Amino acid sequence: METMGSLQRTHNCNQLGIDNLNQEVILMGWVLRRRDHGGVIFIDLRDRWGITQIVFNPEINPEIHAKAHKLRSEWVLAIKGRVEQRPGDMANPKLTTGAIEILVDELRILNTSETPPFPIDEEAEVSDNIRLQYRYMDLRRPEMADKLIMRHQALQAVRSYLSENDFLEIETPMLTRSTPEGARDYLVPSRVNAGKFYALPQSPQLFKQMLMISGMDRYFQIVKCFRDEDLRADRQPEFTQIDMELSFQDEDAIIQITEGMIQDVFRKTRDIELKPPFKRMTYDEAMARFGTDRPDTRFGFELVDLTETLRGCSFKVFNSIIDKGGAVRAINAKGCADFSRKDLDTLTDYATRFGAKGMAWIKIKDDQWQSPITKFFSEEELAAMGTALEAEPGDLLLFGADDSATVNQVLAELRLELARRLKLIDNSTFNFLWITDFPLVEYDTDRKRYTAVHHPFTAPNDDDLDLLETDPTKVKSRAYDLVLNGNEIGGGSIRIHTPEVQKRVLKTLGIGQEEAQDKFGFLIQALTYGAPPHGGIAFGVDRLLMILTGSESIRDVIAFPKTQKATCPLTEAPATVARKQLTELHLRPDWKEA
Ligand code: AMO
Ligand code: AMP
Repeated sequence: METMGSLQRTHNCNQLGIDNLNQEVILMGWVLRRRDHGGVIFIDLRDRWGITQIVFNPEINPEIHAKAHKLRSEWVLAIKGRVEQRPGDMANPKLTTGAIEILVDELRILNTSETPPFPIDEEAEVSDNIRLQYRYMDLRRPEMADKLIMRHQALQAVRSYLSENDFLEIETPMLTRSTPEGARDYLVPSRVNAGKFYALPQSPQLFKQMLMISGMDRYFQIVKCFRDEDLRADRQPEFTQIDMELSFQDEDAIIQITEGMIQDVFRKTRDIELKPPFKRMTYDEAMARFGTDRPDTRFGFELVDLTETLRGCSFKVFNSIIDKGGAVRAINAKGCADFSRKDLDTLTDYATRFGAKGMAWIKIKDDQWQSPITKFFSEEELAAMGTALEAEPGDLLLFGADDSATVNQVLAELRLELARRLKLIDNSTFNFLWITDFPLVEYDTDRKRYTAVHHPFTAPNDDDLDLLETDPTKVKSRAYDLVLNGNEIGGGSIRIHTPEVQKRVLKTLGIGQEEAQDKFGFLIQALTYGAPPHGGIAFGVDRLLMILTGSESIRDVIAFPKTQKATCPLTEAPATVARKQLTELHLRPDWKEA
């Protein structure tokens, strides 16, 4: 192997053009492709910035040409040479450096490489596991590098926007007490405090509130959060938030400031000019029209409630569900009357995955309604359904009947699936939507108690305070979520800032005085020392970048993500540890050592 010696890089691999003709330059990078054209060897030399073609000509420099014969994919080179114009028909207009090539007169091989586990220069079917095991190779692929570059640009935009708007970037502890954001904690045993555990933060929620009580007024942090929950394409066990908190501001002011931030991010990453204010919709409206609090509003297929229309109908399945307090809702899949039996079967299977017990349908064909269920309904009932769903020839009506939450979930997923199948989703639109007026709590039938829809520090609507003890699910909160194309990219709220209201809300959540004192004593105490009115929000950086970069999964915008099973194939974390480490941490090593 050779060294760089005194060679110093003069340019990167995306810099040289016609203006540099005849210059002597030094480039360093990786062999992306090698082509042998009847003696002349062409190499595409790659670095983070781009690609430059370098040329070895046997007639001009036989010795170096012979050396270039050995070069293979992903070897690391330093070259010195002269910039030459490519012959007319060899120019590549798609490449920034496509008009030139470098005729090499010094070649140093700085390192060789094993054959790459997958091609770097083309899109190949590679399993996620292999990509993650060789993540350092995966990140060499230009489209992956571009995603990390865009992530950097987005975070720089956030930092400068918030800094210009008087926010202070303040770090908060990673070894802390568990705060309830609803997921399971990652725990860290304490060596010096036998039997005690830190929790990795699910978010800096309580610390940022403390910072408002400290008078910091405007805080932000780009911060890792840890949640031990079941993983999906948009969920990682550790993920990054843009976390913010402000004092003496109401919902509108916080929303306005964050819209400006998102606007800057889009401008500085994609050169897209968003036009705030973003639309707003209440939680109730979102649930009624889309069955979810994070609707994708890029296409229609809205839900229509038929519960009252069909109360007492003669179709037993629907009638008995309505009788038991359930709901019947439907969507009009416009223009889908030509779906085949097989299409309907696979759609039904899809609905079943989300809890549906069936998926009744009606095809509207030139005034004739085709369906196994039409015979169960009277003319008036069919006409009422048709009117409610604005049914026309060519349409397909899809029905869900169950308890209200299940119907919503099933139809919300069916809507998305239909839009995907029919390719109705326009990936160049960015539909931002604020969801407001959430309920403060919901009833958890499994645990038989109320749980916070956001977190226990979210302020109830002042006007609803009286209902806190009598009818808690009727209380609206001062929370707001930002939804982008059907993804929840941020969520926040105005917080409770008096100890009295905080204690009342904890009590509603079934957290008794003793437990409240034990878990949140420090918060309640801090609220007694002149806490200012305050509120904030946190954005999911990974989700935002997933959408900005047009990626399928948040894994694509995280340098070293975890698999669906929360493992890291590169480092093989989590791993077993030595027995001694466990005993030092006062843990009983009952399980087998590796
Ligand atoms: P919340 O729990 O809504 O709010 O989180 C804020 C945002 O973080 C993103 N997010 C995730 N991204 C990837 N993987 C995950 N597992 C994951 N979980 C959440 C989402 C979400 O909108 N402390 C409050 C914020 C506040 O009230 O200010 C909080 O953490 O995009
Ligand atoms: P059945 O009488 O059970 O054969 O059902 C007749 C039609 O109603 C079938 O197309 C079923 O898929 C549909 N169906 C049954 N249960 C439900 C339900 N809970 N929601 C929507 N459709 C249903």
